[in-house]
Amino acid sequence: MTTLPTDGKRKRVFIRTYGCQMNVYDSDRMADVLRPLGYALSESPEQADLVVLNTCHIREKASEKVYSELGRLRDVKAERRNAGADLTIAVAGCVAQAEGAEIARRQPAVDIVVGPQAYHRLPQLLAEAERRAALRRAGKRLPGAGVLDTEFPAESKFDHLPAPAGVRAGSAFLSIQEGCDKFCTFCVVPYTRGAEYSRPAEAILREARGLVEAGAIELTLLGQNVNAYHGEAPVCSIGGSTWSLARLIRALAEIEGVVRLRYTTSHPRDMDDDLIAAHGEVPQLMPYLHLPVQSGSDRILEAMNRGHGRDLFRSLADRLRERRSDLALSSDLIVGFPGESDADFDDTMRLVEEVGFASAFSFKYSRRPGTPGAALADQVPEAVKTARLSALQALLADQQLRFNTAKVGAVVPVLFAEAGRKPGQVLGKSPWLQSVHVAGPASLLGRIAEVELTAAYAVSLAGRLSSSVGAAA
Ligand code: 5AD
Ligand code: SF4
Repeated sequence: MTTLPTDGKRKRVFIRTYGCQMNVYDSDRMADVLRPLGYALSESPEQADLVVLNTCHIREKASEKVYSELGRLRDVKAERRNAGADLTIAVAGCVAQAEGAEIARRQPAVDIVVGPQAYHRLPQLLAEAERRAALRRAGKRLPGAGVLDTEFPAESKFDHLPAPAGVRAGSAFLSIQEGCDKFCTFCVVPYTRGAEYSRPAEAILREARGLVEAGAIELTLLGQNVNAYHGEAPVCSIGGSTWSLARLIRALAEIEGVVRLRYTTSHPRDMDDDLIAAHGEVPQLMPYLHLPVQSGSDRILEAMNRGHGRDLFRSLADRLRERRSDLALSSDLIVGFPGESDADFDDTMRLVEEVGFASAFSFKYSRRPGTPGAALADQVPEAVKTARLSALQALLADQQLRFNTAKVGAVVPVLFAEAGRKPGQVLGKSPWLQSVHVAGPASLLGRIAEVELTAAYAVSLAGRLSSSVGAAA
């Protein structure tokens, strides 16, 4: 039997996050919204009064995971009710947005379905769920399933969210932009996250200052299309009514205490001259760029509605490296988009060879209902996708190991973020976003120290602290 180990006053919420960094950020912000209602974070669903699944809809596998987790939670809830208590189940994020009614139908144990643009309304949704639960306990039969909120509100949720609480180990995400108007033919994001929206620069600068005061030395600017950023300029700013991402980065770099800046995820079409220049001019901007290309075939890029060809991507890589010769490039690649021939796939392999990536994510095309790609006749057989993905991943793994190996012997600043797997070990990130582990004290967490890199592995490096340990810039 499950018992509730709450202290009688504090309620507990367990938030499980699927998918991208945007969702990690959203989960933190949901915790911020729930904190004033008395919710502390719980380590497991079994110990929680409220469970939030913050879901991802980008590929079929990601959304199917949600339904199996909901099945498990239904059992926890049933046990809880047998014990005279309750468990509130909320589904948030992109599956909630795309399949709200379907979730309620498939899993009646769900109390709340809340889309990614509506989580500032969680307090009202919880109150409504509680009202329904009270009526049900009183023996009333209620029409419909749980409480559903998947509207795209006219106002921005950012205007209603409390300031983020706390910074983990010196590093913080800062959402500057949401949604997407690009409509790549494989992607659900424009449907689940809605139209492109950029936060005003003033609000971002204010949040950044707050995060630095709370201990952040690294800020990662987040957006579904982060370099499409065009937020309202601060009132005192000269030269135009909106700021570009490059302008925003330059202003953030002026905040005292900002040692590292990163941004993700970008689109090749929005890499403007000023942003490329910033990579050479702003020392805080880390020499790492995640720039999804998706395919190396012009024919497939066109069918994907990417709005650029392979040549643009190659020239961007060259121009960025002219400005910052040590820039690590990362990317997203899809194999098996409908109509992809062997020759198209070879173009992708060639592009990867020509550009050279420090790391990359690669996926089999997943048919997403409602996207134009799903309706295309020429779907690629699963076995072909599997073979292409393994060839591509072998090439990418080889490139990543070569990139890591080339750094062995260098002394580099590492921002330590967490305890390592072995006792006495700490784990951090190099400027090129490589994971680096060293033997060192926990007091290093949240600080930058110089590390001599001693060995390279597939996805990480080992190092030793060099003599001058300190909060180096
Ligand atoms: N199938 C496979 N991969 C996809 N992505 C987005 N939609 C799909 C899909 N339908 C990948 C893209 C994107 C990353 C976040 O997920 O590569 O850049
Ligand atoms: Fe999806 Fe394309 Fe928008 Fe990226 S740019 S979020 S892949 S539609």
